[in-house]
Amino acid sequence: MLKPVLITGASSGIGEATAVHLAHKGFRVYAGARRLEKLKLLEGLGQEAITAVELDVTDERSIARALERIAEDGAPLYGLVNNAGVAVTGPVEEVALDEWRREFETNVFGLLAVTKAVMPQMRAAGAGRIVNVGSLSGRVVAPFMGAYAASKHAVEAISDAMRREFSLVGVKVSLIRPGFINTTFGEQEQHGLEPFMEAGRPYADAVAAFKAWHAKGHPNGASPFEVAEKIHDALTSDRPHSRYTAPARYLGILMMRNLLPSAIFDRLLLNATGVKKLF
Ligand SMILES: NC(=O)c1ccc[n+]([C@@H]2O[C@H](COP(=O)([O-])OP(=O)(O)OC[C@H]3O[C@@H](n4cnc5c(N)ncnc54)[C@H](OP(=O)(O)O)[C@@H]3O)[C@@H](O)[C@H]2O)c1
Repeated sequence: MLKPVLITGASSGIGEATAVHLAHKGFRVYAGARRLEKLKLLEGLGQEAITAVELDVTDERSIARALERIAEDGAPLYGLVNNAGVAVTGPVEEVALDEWRREFETNVFGLLAVTKAVMPQMRAAGAGRIVNVGSLSGRVVAPFMGAYAASKHAVEAISDAMRREFSLVGVKVSLIRPGFINTTFGEQEQHGLEPFMEAGRPYADAVAAFKAWHAKGHPNGASPFEVAEKIHDALTSDRPHSRYTAPARYLGILMMRNLLPSAIFDRLLLNATGVKKLF
């Protein structure tokens, strides 16, 4: 029997690529998201290995309905890929508190809600895999990415807690840290910066400089299938890694972040992102 896996946020980008990749590798994929029409197109590509499931991770009733639909097919979930995410961008001082809450509602509380709903069946089976899609921003905080980076820092901490606790009941947990990936995610981030560039806004010039630098990131980023391969490894390895960085070239900046004094790393980041020319 094919192993059933639920992917949240499968209507585009990394989630969509992961659905296609896992179906190709012989998994039974449940592709969850809010835009059912996009999921139906994906289902059509899956040769019966992909099933579209309407799912809003911020709505516990929607999560319960999605899991009821999956349970109708009879097999407990083997895997959960917590991938759904949104990006809120802008200066810490200026981003509205409701926007900070919206960021955490999806990226943090949504991930928690789906995991809490799925865990009883994995615990009962004494087996399962959970893959959380974090971000390089879960370790490295670019200016004007504070809300998003904070949510992904929370995902890092939650993944550590999950990994240590769920190992006690046979469930393995991995975190994926993508860098710039070529999806439409960057458009949300770019769009989010625009209001803060208006004349008279306190950080307008710096936000404009950052936006110009950031605009090149996603179009030149890695393929979402590179991330999908890491997710497949986390679901299938006998000993999955705690963390996967995708693509591996970002390991260098992670090392710098860990080794350099903050004062130096701050200057490097401000310079590299075009916000303040220091060198
Ligand atoms: N692209 C990158 O460079 C990059 C880098 C690091 C980390 N990531 C992370 O990778 C994940 C996927 O991003 P992506 O690049 O593939 O972006 P994307 O194409 O915008 O995909 C985001 C997905 O999340 C879904 N989603 C958003 N809110 C949701 C909700 N409330 N309930 C269910 N699904 C929801 C969206 O579907 P609906 O709108 O249909 O619900 C969509 O399928 C995110 O967690 C993101 O933070 C991306």
